Amino acid sequence: MTAVETVHVDLGARSYDVRIGAGLIARAGAEIAPLLRRPRVAVLTDATVAPLHLDALRAGLGDVTMTALSLPAGEGTKGWPEFARAVDWLLAERIERRDVVIAFGGGVIGDLAGFAAAVLRRGVRFVQIPTTLLAQVDSSVGGKTGINSVHGKNLVGAFHQPSLVLADIGVLDTLPARDFLSGYGEVVKYGLLGDAGFFEWLERNGPALAAGDATLRQYAVRRSVEMKARIVERDETEEGDRALLNLGHTFCHALETATGYSGRLLHGEGVAIGCALAFELSQRLGLCSQEDPSRVRAHLKAMGMKADLADIPGDLPDADALLALMAQDKKVVDGRLRFILARGIGEAFVADDVPGDVVRKLLAEALA
Ligand code: NAD
Ligand code: GLY
Repeated sequence: MTAVETVHVDLGARSYDVRIGAGLIARAGAEIAPLLRRPRVAVLTDATVAPLHLDALRAGLGDVTMTALSLPAGEGTKGWPEFARAVDWLLAERIERRDVVIAFGGGVIGDLAGFAAAVLRRGVRFVQIPTTLLAQVDSSVGGKTGINSVHGKNLVGAFHQPSLVLADIGVLDTLPARDFLSGYGEVVKYGLLGDAGFFEWLERNGPALAAGDATLRQYAVRRSVEMKARIVERDETEEGDRALLNLGHTFCHALETATGYSGRLLHGEGVAIGCALAFELSQRLGLCSQEDPSRVRAHLKAMGMKADLADIPGDLPDADALLALMAQDKKVVDGRLRFILARGIGEAFVADDVPGDVVRKLLAEALA
């Protein structure tokens, strides 16, 4: 078994460790103890994770008393009704400002629980115990918390850093293949945005990693978290460089809204398709070679992932409607569309003022 590794996120008074390895849930009590002022935690989880892993967490917490609320699984939970339910439950459980809330689940639970912790009594500390690949490599790190609105994805939220992240690689063994590959979409994103060597490593090792090799999984999580940590340290509140983490996301968020945050398209699937479109757009703007978008799509296809709009089941809105959805994105500045484009694999940059007609033509052709 590979030893537990630690990536430190250095944010001054808001610094914390991301612990990565197998067996962390079994020792959760010892890991979390230094944060506790009384031996009691409140856990927010979901109805899929709870029957699989909540008993193990309770056992791992040892002498720490655990109270838990299980919310419905899935993106539909990340909205006002379940958020209000979670906050009221935490208040009913008398969770105080010195207590710790635990987010035990995928990105949906992490984002919702983190936002609940951000506003509960004007802010309590929280620990992320991410149980999906996506949450381990991305959403549990960096402090973006929030919920969706009928107006779009993640439009209500707060920056609230966790006090600790425990990424137990072993918990990924129960993740359905589709959810694992959705998380892999975010892993690929890291290689594409800033580390061509890591993308090559994924081209070589992706299939074995997806098949269950724990050592490869741990390396992929650790490298992804390291990359995210360094970017978040430079730009915690997304004034600049942090926007690079949104490679593929302008397309992805429009597609998620168009498909109603449903099982038709998982977030990481949208990120993967969005990355392929971002490279295609970069190539059409003369920024990268013709080979780059082909290589991105070839890797996604080799992994058995969605790579094109045609891979999304059901009808999609036309190019104009998708463009209108992009205009609601948080990355819109003064009404100008902002994309993350690339000069090559591992060389992403933020581009304002991307010509709308080039994006419209690209989408129209991709939809045809
Ligand atoms: P998710 O939380 O819905 O989890 C996917 C599915 O896997 C759910 O059905 C869940 O119940 C199930 N599951 C979780 N862990 C499991 C396990 N170990 N075994 C079996 N089943 C398990 O989705 P996700 O893909 O983890 O996260 C997507 C969300 O993350 C989106 O809402 C997205 O916006 C958000 N996100 C946030 C950030 C951020 O920085 N805050 C970054 C990326 C994505
Ligand atoms: N997932 C994008 C970010 O954390 O900034």
